[in-house]
Amino acid sequence: MSIRLSNGQTIPIEMHKVRIVQKTTLPPAARRLSAMEEAGYNTFQLRTRDVFLDMLTDSGTNAMSDNQLAAMMVSDDAYAGSESFYKLADAVKDIFGHQYTLPAHQGRAAEHLLAKVFIKPGDVIPMNYHFTTTLAHFEILGGKVLEIYTDEAMNTQSACPFKGNLDLEKLHHVIHEYGPSRIPFVRMEATTNLIGGQPFSLANLREVKRIAADHGILLVVDGSLISENAYFIRQREEGFSDKSILEIVREIMDLCDLCYLSGRKSCSARGGFISTSNKELYERIRPWLPVYEGFFTYGGMSTKEVEAIAVGLREMVEPEVAGASADLVRHFVERLVEAGLPAVTPPGGLAAHLDARLFLPGLGSFEYPAGSLAAAVYLASGIRTMERGTISMDRDRDGKELASDLELVRFAVPRRVYSVSHVEYAVDRLRWLYARRDLVRGLKFRREPPVLRFFDGRLDALEGWGERLVAAFQADFGPDC
Ligand code: F0G
Repeated sequence: MSIRLSNGQTIPIEMHKVRIVQKTTLPPAARRLSAMEEAGYNTFQLRTRDVFLDMLTDSGTNAMSDNQLAAMMVSDDAYAGSESFYKLADAVKDIFGHQYTLPAHQGRAAEHLLAKVFIKPGDVIPMNYHFTTTLAHFEILGGKVLEIYTDEAMNTQSACPFKGNLDLEKLHHVIHEYGPSRIPFVRMEATTNLIGGQPFSLANLREVKRIAADHGILLVVDGSLISENAYFIRQREEGFSDKSILEIVREIMDLCDLCYLSGRKSCSARGGFISTSNKELYERIRPWLPVYEGFFTYGGMSTKEVEAIAVGLREMVEPEVAGASADLVRHFVERLVEAGLPAVTPPGGLAAHLDARLFLPGLGSFEYPAGSLAAAVYLASGIRTMERGTISMDRDRDGKELASDLELVRFAVPRRVYSVSHVEYAVDRLRWLYARRDLVRGLKFRREPPVLRFFDGRLDALEGWGERLVAAFQADFGPDC
């Protein structure tokens, strides 16, 4: 939520009380330098003890509610027929209106099941944008991902409210070119993660559905960030300001044939599921659930998490929860823009993003601007962010490097975890870094894994720039900061 102050300023306001806390420490710059070197300039390899604000991801890192924790205490650990599962299935019926629920241990496990059941070699899967694990699963099974976003999606300095929309002309074209038999489904990702947490509009989704259905093609929604997408529709799309988040979520779910999600994001738990009201689709996926995930009533999740997702699903449609991250992200982005920093606009869900190509214009894609900036941000602030650029792209089948469309550094804002003063600190250190940005050079792989290399790759800073940046920081702030 946001609130208007008497001086006219609007600030994010927390609609919760903090009752359990986790201590965090700010390691001094000298320690940050050795931690970054030990981590191979890969923020995934840092340890929590070396991180001040963990803005790597909002996945599984949200604050849970008292009701979620309470539900975990009464979970039913039965292997088969767990009552916890039936609470989840009821929540899915009440919130999504979907009759069938297939639990999976997390979002990528749901993607694996969908790929296994629906994708055959030579298929193409049109979507508004890929997510890293989606691309890996769909392509491992022989499919090809086709991103058919609108031109505005790649403009990081935009005012377009719905950069997550699918380009409908391109969809017609793809269907004409490949034919419906090679298109198992169209995938629409809510609050499109890799382009900066940008939503699709309901008008666009309705059209996507109409076109897909005209050709007998299924519509699959990745609902990992569904409540934020609904929150933006309510704020930004004409005709929705008096609709509830629940009504908007229901309308999205009525349009799709299948939904899958990571329960680690909007639902503020850990786990995932696939849901549908189409019995035939449900029965095609169901046999594979115990093969890859676990029995039908836990799907690889702890039953404690099943309980937590069931409660999280009901809570995420409350406006205070749906907007918990989005409103702090908006404040963060507005402050960055005021300071003249190249933040992605409009503000999205899940995270504030910096455009690393604009921040570090001297670096080419294969010097990894977003990876370099993520490392520099850590050195200058102790804030752990995530590279979402060329390092996050794997090489193609011939081993060639692929330049990412965008080079973003993601400052995830997990729901109900950080405060306005944390954001003020981040903005201050980023201003400093922007003034010293000419000290930052590129990175080079020392160890490069063959798939999802961003997780486990190790890199070196070209020309030892890390040391020079830390020396400049210490000269300005002293040795203890
Ligand atoms: N789809 C979307 C849109 C996601 O953001 C994620 C995960 C997944 C699928 C995979 O789900 O992690 O539960 O297996 N996003 C996390 C992130 C990892 O940091 O943005 P998962």
